[in-house]
Amino acid sequence: MSDTQRRKVVVAIPLAQPLLDQLSVHDVTYLPTARWDKAALAAAVAETEGLLVSSHIKVNREVIAAASNLQVISTMSVGSDHIDVDAARERGISVTITPVLTDAVADLTMALITMLARRIPEGMRSVSENRWVEGTAMLGSDLAGKVLLLVGFGRIGQAVAKRALASGMDVRYVDPRDDLPAVGGVSRVARLAEGLADADFVSLHIDLNPGTRKLMGRPEFASMKRTAFFVNTSRGGVVDQPALAAALTNGQIDGAALDVLANEPPDPNDAVLTAPNVIIVPHIGSATRETREAMAQCAVDNLLQVLRGEKSPFALG
Ligand code: DGY
Repeated sequence: MSDTQRRKVVVAIPLAQPLLDQLSVHDVTYLPTARWDKAALAAAVAETEGLLVSSHIKVNREVIAAASNLQVISTMSVGSDHIDVDAARERGISVTITPVLTDAVADLTMALITMLARRIPEGMRSVSENRWVEGTAMLGSDLAGKVLLLVGFGRIGQAVAKRALASGMDVRYVDPRDDLPAVGGVSRVARLAEGLADADFVSLHIDLNPGTRKLMGRPEFASMKRTAFFVNTSRGGVVDQPALAAALTNGQIDGAALDVLANEPPDPNDAVLTAPNVIIVPHIGSATRETREAMAQCAVDNLLQVLRGEKSPFALG
């Protein structure tokens, strides 16, 4: 039986008016503050039953402990590393995500791969600096026939695989899960080290958790080809960022493209920002109008469902 009681809800991110209207069956406190600090968030959620956030808002154990009535944390993101999911689970609080950004992230990943292969930033720079560099002085590499190693073969990894296959790439993946669907033309590699040694492109599509933190470190970059490119559209914490900056500076790999960094925004002195041949964009993987609208709707639906006493299909197990 569904529960129609009005609840207290805190919306901590900007939402369009039609979505706020959908939430108005509850008592909504709308606080779309750009940067939340822990204490302010803990105070805001003290009597709240529903909380709507996104990936730049940290919902740690302290915040969860302060929210004694909390039933649901709905995040407008697929990643949940900004939430202490264990602390929520211990309290029986449902954590829901919005896995509706697959194509947007896969498109950006392919764009970054192509930018690296075809030296697009370099070409743009030459034109904007009034130097018309001839193509012969700026040869890139074909994608067809090149080995792409996908680290993680969930929804986004599979969507990147489809696009890369259409470009004629030799697509391989490494993923510890044994229950993933077979995708024709894609081969599985048993261990990361084995895949890294043969790859022309390495692209990360994994969650950040204690087991994946700094998965790509000094030894991993050292085992890649000197001509290889590295792409990360997952989470910055999966990479040992000083090790990546060193690998670029020492010519251990040929270039990198990053949508995510260990700290966002980064420290302006972070060596990765000035490393050679690095493309960095500000966490825009899901940033298309269509995808962000779908994510916001999904986050609202998830929150309303849990507050009605139903189970969201996107609740973490
Ligand atoms: C996600 O949804 O996790 C994206 O990285 C945007 O935060």
